[in-house]
Amino acid sequence: MNAPHESSGPLLPLLLLLVSAGLQSAAQSRGAPPCRPGFSEGLYTVMMPDITEKGQPLFNVRFVSCGRGGLVQFECSNPSDFRIEADGVVYAAKALLHSTLPASPLLIKATDPTTQQQWVTQVRLAPPTQVREVAVPPVISQDLKEIVFPSRNTDSELKRMKRDWVIPPINVPENSRGPFPQELVRIRSDNDKNRSLRYSVTGPGADQPPNGIFTIDPISGELSVNKPLDREHISSFNLRAHAVDLNGNQVENPIDIVINVIDMNDNRPEFGHQVWNGTVPEGSKPGTFVMTVTALDKDDPKTANGMLRYKILSQSPESPNPNMFTINNKTGGIITVAAGLDREKVSQYTLIIQATDTEGNPMYGLSNTATAVIRVTDVNDNAPEFTAEAFFGRVHENQVNVIVANLSVTDKDQPNTPAWNAVYKIIAGDPFGKFSVPTDPITNEGLVTVVKPLDFELNKTHLLKIEARNEVPLARGISSPRQSTATISIQVLDVNESPYFEPNPKVIRLEEGVMPETDLVPFPAKDPDHFMHQSISYSKLSDPANWLRIDPHSGRISTTAVLDRESPYVKNSYYNATFVALDNGKPAASGTGTLQIYLLDINDNAPKVFPHE
Ligand SMILES: *[C@@H]1O[C@H](CO)[C@@H](O)[C@H](O)[C@H]1NC(C)=O
Ligand SMILES: *[C@@H]1O[C@H](CO)[C@@H](O)[C@H](O)[C@H]1NC(C)=O
Ligand SMILES: *[C@@H]1O[C@H](CO)[C@@H](O)[C@H](O)[C@H]1NC(C)=O
Ligand SMILES: *[C@@H]1O[C@H](CO)[C@@H](O)[C@H](O)[C@H]1NC(C)=O
Ligand SMILES: *[C@@H]1O[C@H](CO)[C@@H](O)[C@H](O)[C@H]1NC(C)=O
Ligand SMILES: *[C@@H]1O[C@H](CO)[C@@H](O)[C@H](O)[C@H]1NC(C)=O
Repeated sequence: MNAPHESSGPLLPLLLLLVSAGLQSAAQSRGAPPCRPGFSEGLYTVMMPDITEKGQPLFNVRFVSCGRGGLVQFECSNPSDFRIEADGVVYAAKALLHSTLPASPLLIKATDPTTQQQWVTQVRLAPPTQVREVAVPPVISQDLKEIVFPSRNTDSELKRMKRDWVIPPINVPENSRGPFPQELVRIRSDNDKNRSLRYSVTGPGADQPPNGIFTIDPISGELSVNKPLDREHISSFNLRAHAVDLNGNQVENPIDIVINVIDMNDNRPEFGHQVWNGTVPEGSKPGTFVMTVTALDKDDPKTANGMLRYKILSQSPESPNPNMFTINNKTGGIITVAAGLDREKVSQYTLIIQATDTEGNPMYGLSNTATAVIRVTDVNDNAPEFTAEAFFGRVHENQVNVIVANLSVTDKDQPNTPAWNAVYKIIAGDPFGKFSVPTDPITNEGLVTVVKPLDFELNKTHLLKIEARNEVPLARGISSPRQSTATISIQVLDVNESPYFEPNPKVIRLEEGVMPETDLVPFPAKDPDHFMHQSISYSKLSDPANWLRIDPHSGRISTTAVLDRESPYVKNSYYNATFVALDNGKPAASGTGTLQIYLLDINDNAPKVFPHE
């Protein structure tokens, strides 16, 4: 694999890098944390000569495998400019001019081919002149940067200097793999020329909790970090450096040293929920907002490590179109992009959403996924439709509150909602309001019900026209189909109705003393069943004095005795008798009628039938 370039070794001193192996064993002997495989640094800074030639080795990265064996495979983010060999040496893939290189760091990825585990490191390519000025992660500089105590001349000058003296912060990348201790900077006093001095640092991270992260060599003034830092835990330290002589006298005013922990992309975006639920009404126009899904990344939001981008990985089902939704890659807001959301076809979509840090860089970003479940909600875009054009029913006359027929409809909208529930209206054929059509709440059927008695002798059939609608109006742009109206013809069945007397009671006036066998008055009953041609027979029901007879066929009433006004059965001059008319239907029906006879005094009036026939 590395055959063409075995000879690169000697060229390497060209530039760069790592700290000597001796320090590593020193770190181990001090009980450093257990070895974790990875790049020796999360961020390398490398001096790039202004002009390089094609094939020139530039620097190397070091991968700590912790003795696991097996080679990792390297890839770099800018393969048109750089080429990385299996030994971690990076070459110029072509002649390069420093000023034409992108300002962003070069990214190098290591993949373990057996486990597919991956690691990423960044390489900042600095022009040679810059390295001293820019805050450089210390590991790459062979000679340590120095911080010198401001010189102390007169008191007044010192005050001025103290105010103006700004020590640039020291930047330390988090998660460094060491070896530890790792020198950061050397602190010096110019007074060390003719005296022995002792240096110390104080503050949280040194002599205050968390103690011992930073230590200073009291004689050389080398400030070191003793373990990997975690920016997400503590993002900066404020230390104070002191210089004293051997008697403990302060020889310099203390200086403040700020150590900033540089973010590495060591946190994955985390979604607030694994499943996000949203809804969108069917038929929504493209551009309709649906929902927002968000993830958080603990890395520094001011760097790409903490800048997330969202993406829809998949949509299920892919109908009517595989891209029904889009996501705002910065905010996570999901909107519709296509028309055709139809609950009756697809009632729910499942989207897999991915959040990736490093502003969505697919190669170097860390990602996570969550699910967005989007329920398509119903709108009334379907009218109820009758299952037949014409319905039939039959009902006996005179019955009320009976169901004549059940009209069935179908509605594709969501059952048991106002967009599905049917409301029936009779639009023709019922001028007298004899019917109503309430809705069966369970089956949604129209129950054609008789609410006022029907009369077979008046109308043998009724033809109603009925319309079905929903409880809410149809959505805009949807019109009622023809199947939203139907007819029902109702056959009225004749029943045997009772004969009836009219008037009832019938009153006649007679002089008393009418002789037996006198024909008094016809008292026939009528039969409502015109169409049955029935015959009626008459009989007496009540005739307390037994004075009267009714002809069983004609209903004529005649006397059988003398009508006596003084009879105890006469009250206030009235004598009452009740008759029954019975038809020959099956079953037979009967009615009763009362005849009231007002008896006049014989002395005043001649006997006369009254009223006259
Ligand atoms: C040490 O040198 C500084 C200046 O270089 C001077 O001010 C100081 O007096 C000297 N101290 C001793 C003890 O010689
Ligand atoms: C979404 O609905 C599912 C199933 O009903 C539930 O488990 C989940 O917690 C819901 N998500 C949110 C964010 O409410
Ligand atoms: C994010 O969206 C913007 C505008 O829609 C687009 O220009 C940009 O390329 C997208 N970024 C990613 C990482 O998809
Ligand atoms: C009509 O509906 C009523 C009420 O739901 C029910 O009792 C009856 O059985 C139905 N009749 C038919 C023929 O479905
Ligand atoms: C009887 O039926 C006829 C024809 O359908 C109609 O014109 C009339 O109004 C109906 N009468 C009653 C009482 O329903
Ligand atoms: C006959 O009927 C009338 C009216 O119902 C009543 O006032 C009268 O008392 C009745 N006569 C007899 C004898 O029952």
